[in-house]
Amino acid sequence: MPSISAEPSSAAEPSSAAEQGAMEAALAAALRGPRGANPLVGAVILSPEGEHLATGYHRGAGTAHAEADAISEARRQGIDTSGTTMVVTLEPCNHEGRTGPCAQAIIAAGIAKVVYAVDDPHDPAAGGARTLRAAGVEVHSGLAAGEARDLNREWFEAVAAKRPFVTLHIAQTLDSRIAAVDGTSQWISSPESLADNHGLRELIDAILVGTGTVLIDNPRLTARTPDGELSQLQPLRAVMGLRDVPADAAVRGTDGRFVHLPTRDPAQALGRLFDEGARHVMVEGGSSILSTFLAAGLVDELIIYLAPTLLGSGTAALNDLGITTLADAQHWSWDDAGGGAVRTLGNDLRLHLRSTRAATSKNSVPQKVLHSEAAEYLTGGH
Ligand SMILES: NC(=O)c1ccc[n+]([C@@H]2O[C@H](COP(=O)([O-])OP(=O)(O)OC[C@H]3O[C@@H](n4cnc5c(N)ncnc54)[C@H](OP(=O)(O)O)[C@@H]3O)[C@@H](O)[C@H]2O)c1
Repeated sequence: MPSISAEPSSAAEPSSAAEQGAMEAALAAALRGPRGANPLVGAVILSPEGEHLATGYHRGAGTAHAEADAISEARRQGIDTSGTTMVVTLEPCNHEGRTGPCAQAIIAAGIAKVVYAVDDPHDPAAGGARTLRAAGVEVHSGLAAGEARDLNREWFEAVAAKRPFVTLHIAQTLDSRIAAVDGTSQWISSPESLADNHGLRELIDAILVGTGTVLIDNPRLTARTPDGELSQLQPLRAVMGLRDVPADAAVRGTDGRFVHLPTRDPAQALGRLFDEGARHVMVEGGSSILSTFLAAGLVDELIIYLAPTLLGSGTAALNDLGITTLADAQHWSWDDAGGGAVRTLGNDLRLHLRSTRAATSKNSVPQKVLHSEAAEYLTGGH
């Protein structure tokens, strides 16, 4: 990992080598979590002598925040956290989301000092740093701020645009086919890839397909366990397109968690889903919908299950992206977050990529704007 940066802030002071090392470890720990509605966050607890005592990270929406995870890890090891230092990649939160406020957990744990990288996107006046200082905790910010922002750059961009974070999912053959000539596509990928996909469906807020997929495949779009049972957490099921969704389509289900989006505009579809409360949407196909979202620059994360299979003909994963010359090609980077960039799942490869759009955009939004926009965006914990 390259050496980390310090950024001036009101409370900036030189950090110790132990704190810098802990911030590197916290950034690495953050990467173990999945991308999605919440940012990746990592935390490390140091003893007063600078010894690395415990590490925590955020495992996705609804689970313990990195700070609480690190405190729990210390407790599991029987470590007394009083007088210790917490080094964390994001300002500890100060609000009651689905999990308790981290600032209070830190105070209750007797932690004496907090060093964090970037401000929580909530209104800084009401932020965790202020609460911590008021309780007598020494607080410093700005260490590795650039790295911490880059870690979550797509998330910041989605927040600024007031749209959900978008994961695009493709199950394809070696020659980029998602269905055979006769329309059959179940299943191109291995049972292990299917199980992985159903695990993702439990983590997201909404799953989106086009009317074409509904009319051809009649999918249920539910999250299911490997034995076919419904999982506890179910995403909202969304279908995009002008044609009606048949009254007996499986996707409608009986739980009321279905929405038809009568539009061909991906931004409008995301706007509707955002209004429905979705902060993480997985777009599952078919090729028209996948291509529409990619062409519009509205995809933050790509997950591709690549089966060692050839079809030669059939439905291509993607159609026109509006690119006519190599210089305009979309570039993606391998993403180590949430289990790695390339993994073997049964017979398949699972490829994980992140957008380079936010990193390279000439019009990227200043972080201060992102932070104030985010205050409105967030409804739960980070
Ligand atoms: N392997 C996989 O991962 C996977 C996943 C899903 C689907 N599939 C396969 O994909 C195939 C279906 O692909 P598909 O492209 O026909 O269906 P699709 O992408 O699911 O739906 C296409 C339809 O969506 C509507 N639509 C909405 N916005 C649009 C836009 N901006 N541009 C174009 N169309 C838009 C149009 O219908 P309206 O006239 O209603 O607007 C269009 O006909 C099936 O064979 C299915 O098995 C494979």
